[in-house]
Amino acid sequence: MNRPSTPSARTLVILAHPDLASSRITARLVEAVSDLPHVTVHEIGPASPDGGFNVAREQQLLCDHDRIVWQFPWYWYSVPAVLKAWIDQVLTHGFAYGSTGSALHGKTLQLVTSTGGPESSYAADNPTSRFTMAQLLAPLDATARLIGMRLAEPLVLHGARTVSDEDLAAHAKRYRYLLNLPDGPTRPTGPGTPT
Ligand SMILES: Cc1cc2nc3c(=O)[nH]c(=O)nc-3n(C[C@H](O)[C@H](O)[C@H](O)COP(=O)(O)O)c2cc1C
Repeated sequence: MNRPSTPSARTLVILAHPDLASSRITARLVEAVSDLPHVTVHEIGPASPDGGFNVAREQQLLCDHDRIVWQFPWYWYSVPAVLKAWIDQVLTHGFAYGSTGSALHGKTLQLVTSTGGPESSYAADNPTSRFTMAQLLAPLDATARLIGMRLAEPLVLHGARTVSDEDLAAHAKRYRYLLNLPDGPTRPTGPGTPT
């Protein structure tokens, strides 16, 4: 008898690119997952004219899914402003943190990003940038911990300006594979992480 396969986690992709029409990487990657039946793609950029989100709607979307993806291009060693604004407004006290803020507890956070710089520019011994990607992602790691989410191993594409179509297609395939898993592999927790 065939055993039913483990269902994939209901997944919400928060797509945060301020100019998706000019994107090569983010656009190609999201295209690779948007037809998956358990995946909801929710574009939040460009921001609305007043920069405000419908917080109740955004929070309901989060509640309706088990795995949340933040997909964004890497801007100034951080997230684009539209994603920062979304985090500031949506992850409120009493919802995401605080004594009664447990709405996201136990859900998985998957970061998906791309950098213009090559992988070598994110090495600890690189004299210019000096920091590894894991170190630079520490604020998001801390955010995930505060709101009780399990941080999955981030999916990062380096060298966005020069990546070949073939390598980009392979990366897109990897993204699709990850989102098809019941849940992605999470980072080890405990003293010493992130490294
Ligand atoms: C405003 C801005 C800031 C950026 N900052 C960085 C950065 O700090 N480090 C880096 O490696 N690339 C940086 N980049 C390059 C982007 O990460 C890269 O163009 C992007 O990942 C490509 O994805 P896309 O084709 O979806 O736009 C920056 C690009 C822009 C426009």
